[in-house]
Amino acid sequence: MKRLGIISLFVLLFVAFIAIWNYSYYQGLEEAYIPTTHDSSNLIIPSEEGVFKRSKYALDYAKMPIDEEHQRSLSDYYNNRAFPGAPPSVPHPIEKDGLIGENTCLKCHDNGGFVQKYDAYAPVSPHPEMVNCRQCHVAQLSKGDFKENYFVKKSPPKVGDNNALLGSPPMIPHQIQMRENCLSCHAGSSAPKEILVSHPERVNCRQCHVPTSVDANTNGLFIREN
Ligand code: HEC
Ligand code: HEC
Ligand code: HEC
Ligand code: HEC
Repeated sequence: MKRLGIISLFVLLFVAFIAIWNYSYYQGLEEAYIPTTHDSSNLIIPSEEGVFKRSKYALDYAKMPIDEEHQRSLSDYYNNRAFPGAPPSVPHPIEKDGLIGENTCLKCHDNGGFVQKYDAYAPVSPHPEMVNCRQCHVAQLSKGDFKENYFVKKSPPKVGDNNALLGSPPMIPHQIQMRENCLSCHAGSSAPKEILVSHPERVNCRQCHVPTSVDANTNGLFIREN
């Protein structure tokens, strides 16, 4: 009876040890946890998630014929923006004036496609989750509302001169915020022809293309103070 007592005491201690060890082991794991999306077949770092957003269409983009007659150019693209990175104005009539956005706009701007009545391809919205479109995108009619002024448009970054060596991947000359979804602007029939990507099927764009670091240029040389 006494021996049984001692054995069960040790068994208890052993079980407690395993339980505590197990608990602290998983606690330790949690500290080193890198948040990724929960679908284990599709592990993505959240800040880079946008890069993969339209990647299921990548092969369609690669096979799509180019409709040269209706291609946009970068100067068309920038004519419609107050400055690089500004929300473009709406160049077409707005169907129902009472509506702020959502499906009124997304029926054309979610996936794009040719629109006969405007004789153009609808550009794909890089941010279909921001549904109050007209909070930021205003009609072009407001042109006459402003007095003449000295506002000068900053010129956009250069294209075609962003790589270190011939044939190496060019650096990303623009901000990444609100431009996470690379394929929405760089692929498909509405992409300006100068920036149409020749390889939409390499979906992990930021694996090869790194942003030019504006901060590093403006901070100047780092000098250590003793
Ligand atoms: C019937 C389809 C259709 C609907 C609906 C539609 N659009 Fe468009 N949108 C287009 C097309 C086509 C273009 C390209 C026009 C051009 O290039 O001349 C365009 C261009 C734009 C642009 C300019 C994009 C750029 O890169 O310069 C903005 C902004 C825009 N639309 C916003 C909206 C908003 C906001 C709504 C909802 C109120 C909306 N659109 C509804 C077809 C549509
Ligand atoms: C919070 C403000 C905001 C909201 C809301 C918003 N947009 Fe934008 N949108 C922008 C800005 C800013 C840009 C320019 C991005 C850039 O050049 O980096 C832009 C760019 C675009 C473009 C041009 C893409 C291209 O080819 O360059 C389209 C099309 C567009 N938006 C459509 C929409 C539609 C449709 C909605 C509603 C479903 C919407 N946006 C909601 C701010 C907004
Ligand atoms: C809102 C539309 C838009 C989005 C989204 C976008 N870009 Fe761009 N990208 C442009 C435009 C416009 C240019 C031309 C230069 C400029 O105006 O910044 C450009 C230029 C570039 C260039 C330089 C090309 C050359 O030949 O010099 C690279 C590389 C690039 N983008 C990569 C990316 C990557 C990678 C992403 C996704 C993280 C991305 N872009 C998202 C619009 C976009
Ligand atoms: C495996 C590396 C790699 C990946 C991934 C990659 N690129 Fe590139 N990219 C390159 C190289 C290399 C060049 C230069 C090609 C040349 O000079 O012929 C280039 C060139 C470009 C250009 C200039 C125009 C052109 O096509 O030559 C753009 C824009 C661009 N890439 C955008 C993108 C986008 C958007 C993605 C994601 C869909 C992407 N890249 C994914 C390596 C890559």
